[in-house]
Amino acid sequence: MEPRIIVHGGAWDWADDLHGAMAGYLQQATAVGWGVLQAGGSALDAVERAVNVLEDAPVFEAGTGGIPNADGVLEMDALIVDGATHKFGAVAAVRQVQYPISLARKVLEETDHCFFVGAGADQLAARLGMPLVPNARLITPEAFAQFKRADATGTADTVGAVAMDSMGNVAAATSTSGLPLKPAGRVGDSPLLGSGGFAWNGVGAAGATGYGENIMQALLTKYTCDKMAQGFTAQEAANAAIHYIDGMFVNSMAGLIVIDGRGRLGVAHSTPKIAIGWVGDDGAIHTAMDGSGFKK
Ligand code: GLY
Repeated sequence: MEPRIIVHGGAWDWADDLHGAMAGYLQQATAVGWGVLQAGGSALDAVERAVNVLEDAPVFEAGTGGIPNADGVLEMDALIVDGATHKFGAVAAVRQVQYPISLARKVLEETDHCFFVGAGADQLAARLGMPLVPNARLITPEAFAQFKRADATGTADTVGAVAMDSMGNVAAATSTSGLPLKPAGRVGDSPLLGSGGFAWNGVGAAGATGYGENIMQALLTKYTCDKMAQGFTAQEAANAAIHYIDGMFVNSMAGLIVIDGRGRLGVAHSTPKIAIGWVGDDGAIHTAMDGSGFKK
């Protein structure tokens, strides 16, 4: 099958002057994931590597550059889902891991469990050979200034990727520092299976971003994949899911990236903007920072 990939840098309403930096990183993340797929690599590798790029990008709220919680501490969540096996790995409220999505991948592949949280997740990272980094090293001066201003608005958001490899396997990955200035211990949709991400071979894969409290109550990515299982295309399923969550909440603030079982892409959002990168049917990498301009 022809591989496919689409990545996102959040759905929210950020300042237009961030668009240039965001587009650059989304282009780079798409290229890295696409390179994996073009070399015959797996969908799981593609989404992990693409998300690693976005975790390193200081402009997004994931990994380095994430916004601290109300106590000034960065607490990060991540989820990776394997559509071939229906297994997932997830972590929440990790504090000392530079690449939370890679720790989630290790949970999936190197443990008998699915989900680790807090200090236990950081300890697991060390046991599995990942370097632990001081929390303060992951907080950029810009993110710290935002914390000091108690300013929870206007920044870019959660990151994620969904992909299909040449074998038809699908995968989804999501990584975030969660809502800016959230109370300590708060966890959003991102690491929750069926909320932040879902993937099922033959059906498709979906990644969500936006206001986690709404997304997790809607089980938004499971809903999206259920629609594809009923025969909806990726775009039809994304539209239906956003319509559904919009019916549940006055201001649903959600975004979705989707690949269906035939490799078609879909994007929908109820936020003012969604930032995406993808490889189109023309084989070229495209980016769009405000939700417009998405063409398969
Ligand atoms: N969607 C990210 C969060 O609400 O934590």
